[in-house]
Amino acid sequence: MNLLASFDELARGKVIDEGRNFQWRVARKPSGELSPADFEWHTSDIPDPGPGQVLLKTHYLGLAPVMRMYMQGTGAAGEAALKPGDVIHGRGVAQIVRSRHPDWAEGQMVQGQLGWQTYKATAMSAQEKMFKVPQQGVPAMLSCKTLSMTGLSAHAGLFACGEPRRGETLVLSGAAGGVGSIVSQLAANVVGCEVIGIAGGAEKCALILEQACTAAIDYKKDNMAERLAALCPQGIDCYFDNVGGQTLSTVLDHLALRARIVLCGSISEYALEQPFALRNYTRLRTKEARMQGFFVYNHIDRWESVMNELASWILSGQLVPKNDITQGFENMPKALARMYAGLNRGAAICDVRGEPKDWA
Ligand SMILES: NC(=O)c1ccc[n+]([C@@H]2O[C@H](COP(=O)([O-])OP(=O)(O)OC[C@H]3O[C@@H](n4cnc5c(N)ncnc54)[C@H](OP(=O)(O)O)[C@@H]3O)[C@@H](O)[C@H]2O)c1
Repeated sequence: MNLLASFDELARGKVIDEGRNFQWRVARKPSGELSPADFEWHTSDIPDPGPGQVLLKTHYLGLAPVMRMYMQGTGAAGEAALKPGDVIHGRGVAQIVRSRHPDWAEGQMVQGQLGWQTYKATAMSAQEKMFKVPQQGVPAMLSCKTLSMTGLSAHAGLFACGEPRRGETLVLSGAAGGVGSIVSQLAANVVGCEVIGIAGGAEKCALILEQACTAAIDYKKDNMAERLAALCPQGIDCYFDNVGGQTLSTVLDHLALRARIVLCGSISEYALEQPFALRNYTRLRTKEARMQGFFVYNHIDRWESVMNELASWILSGQLVPKNDITQGFENMPKALARMYAGLNRGAAICDVRGEPKDWA
C-alpha cells in the first residue's frame, strides 16, 4: 500500500460528532517518513470550561511542517516538544460556544493554539496567542493561514529581513506552498520585484507561473545552477529560503552584490538525523551579502498592523489566498504527510466544520 493510501486506511471509520471531543495524539516519535503508526485517535467527553475559561469549538486547523518536529520532541521552536500521548500542537480557527471569561464572549470567532482536537476548554493564556477573528468581508477560514502566522511569516520575512526593492530579482524556494505563495505575490504585486520561483515538479512550476512568478525552476528535474545563471545574469538580489539544504547552497553561488537571504525554513532537512552542512557560506563575504533568520513569534507585536495590511491587499486583489484544503478532521495525519510529500498547493488547511453560521 502506498503511503497516502495507508493514511486513508487510518482515517477509515473515524467520524467526528458534536457530542464528544476527538483528538489526534502522538503515538510515537516519527522517524524518517511520517507513518500512520505515529498518530493515535482519542475520544473523550467535551471538556467543561472552569471559571475564567471558555469552550472553543474547532472549525479549521492549519498544518505546518514544524508539527513533525514537535512530534519528534526535538529542536522545535515556539511550542513545547511533545511526547507520546500528548495532543499534537496546531493553530486554527474556532468559535467560543461557552464563556466564563470576562474578556471573551460567546459567538466570537478566534484563532490561536487549539491543538489537533475538535473542542478545547481554555483560559485563553498569552502562550496560546489567541486573537479575535474580525469581520472584514472575508471567510473565517482565512484566519487559519493567510491572516495568521503564515501571513505574518511571509510579511516579516519578506519586508523586515529581505528588504526587497522595486525592480530587484527575488528568488524563492517552496514557491507553491503556504508561505511561498504569499511571498511571491507580495514581492511581485506590492513591491514590484521580478520573482523566480523554485518548486518540485512540472505541475507546480506551471502553477506558480500563473500566480506571481515570471520564471520557475523545477528543483527535482532542472539543473538549478544553470537555470539560476541563465535567469539571473546580474545575480540574485533577494533569496527567500523555505527549504535549506542543497538549494540554499546552490543559490549562494549566484548572489548579486549586497544580496539579502531570508532564512525562513529548511524543510529538506527536518527529517534528517543531521542538518545539511553548508560549506560555501563564505560567498556572503565577497558579495557583501547578508543572511538573516527570523522566527514568526518574535514579530507578534506587529500583529494588528500586518493583518490589516494583508487584508487590504486581499481586498485590493494584490494578494489572492491560495489554500490547499483537506476535508475532515479524521484526515489531519494525511494532510501533514501530504506536505512532506510535496502534494499541497498553497496553505495547508483542514476543514473540520466549515464556516460558522454566524459569528459575533
Ligand atoms: N521562520 C518561521 O518562523 C517560520 C514560520 C512558518 C513556516 N516556516 C517554514 O517555512 C517553510 C514553508 O512552510 P509552509 O507552512 O508554507 O509549508 P509549505 O511550503 O506549504 O509546504 C511544504 C512544501 O515544502 C516542500 N518540500 C517538502 N519536502 C521537501 C524537500 N525534502 N526538499 C525541498 N522541498 C520540500 C514541498 O513543496 P515542493 O513540492 O515544491 O517540494 C511542500 O509542498 C517551512 O520550511 C516552514 O518550516 C518558518
